[in-house]
Amino acid sequence: MRRITMAAAGAIFALSLAACSGSGAGSTDDESTGAPADTGDLTIGVAMPTQESERWIADGDAVKSGLEKAGYKVDLQYANNDIPTQQQQIDQMITKGADLLILASIDGTALSNQLQSAADNDIPVIAYDRLIRDSENVDFYVTFDNYKVGVQQATSLLVGLGLLKADGSKGDAAGPFNIELFAGSLDDNNAHFFFKGAMDTLQPYIDDKTLVVKSDQTKIEQVATLRWLQETAQKRMEDLLTSTYSDGSKVQGVLSPYDGLSRGIITALQNAGYGPGIDAGMPIVTGQDAEIASVKLINDGVQYSTIFKDTRKLADQAVTSAQAFLAGDKPEANDTESYDNGVKVVPSFLLDSDIVYKDNIQSLLIDSGYWSADEVASGQAS
Ligand code: BGC
Repeated sequence: MRRITMAAAGAIFALSLAACSGSGAGSTDDESTGAPADTGDLTIGVAMPTQESERWIADGDAVKSGLEKAGYKVDLQYANNDIPTQQQQIDQMITKGADLLILASIDGTALSNQLQSAADNDIPVIAYDRLIRDSENVDFYVTFDNYKVGVQQATSLLVGLGLLKADGSKGDAAGPFNIELFAGSLDDNNAHFFFKGAMDTLQPYIDDKTLVVKSDQTKIEQVATLRWLQETAQKRMEDLLTSTYSDGSKVQGVLSPYDGLSRGIITALQNAGYGPGIDAGMPIVTGQDAEIASVKLINDGVQYSTIFKDTRKLADQAVTSAQAFLAGDKPEANDTESYDNGVKVVPSFLLDSDIVYKDNIQSLLIDSGYWSADEVASGQAS
């Protein structure tokens, strides 16, 4: 172990301290003086896309508190889903002397200048949840297995329609079923992974006509939702009902990649006379993020499923990775192949996700302390 003195200052000081303990910067003691480690001089800039969606609020809170517990100062910014605002916020973090950046981008292709200036200032960059593309200056990526999230979304659609059982075996239903597809924002790399995972899973059923995409809109460009906006999804669902289902036919399933979109889609369907719940003809609608309003809808039998990505675990992973960089180490990756950002393959740490159905809300979400029973009942975070 290296010996260091309190005389060392700034980043070098904290870097050495963390390297000394190997167990995280926040818990280090200065071996030479016995004084607690002082990581308080190090500031980590955290950029999140928007406060419109609950998951990013939870992510921001969890990353901030994890970093603060580890002894860092945190500059957390939300950008209202506005690309120039996010660029400016990151520019400012760099100007103010951030020692590391954790970035959840709005448009994954719009941060090359910011990343170049981070690199020029030797500031490590961790892409958070969403890959930052077209730049060699992304040092690490923490996320979920996004392809698998798409597979899970499609799987839950098949389970809801009765084509599969929850254990993956063949279900009792035969189809054919009318379905429609939605995807996320094209400038979000994740949207492509979700859609690919979903389509690889659904394609065999579309090929053998068990599933019929009646609108014929099956390309991601046709079904994407810019900025993941709920009202955009609601409008597209309304348009689909008018253009494709005014002949008396019914849509029976909707692949939706995010709970906000799912709620827009459900509203459009209810306004057109579907439901209100699945037992009264609401199609099987999937989702993602286990947002509380959607968990309530699942509990009430209106939305069929969502995907639970435990943002607490992602935040922990971001903190661990930040500590490694600030200790002069490399964070541990568990995937060095999947995430090519157009310039390089970014070493990544991928976390697992779970499908939430009505019957496992208790075990996945309540028992783990993600939501309380009261929150699920009211549909509101307390
Ligand atoms: C995230 C999803 C989220 C979506 C919309 C994606 O990048 O991975 O969890 O639903 O953005 O906010």
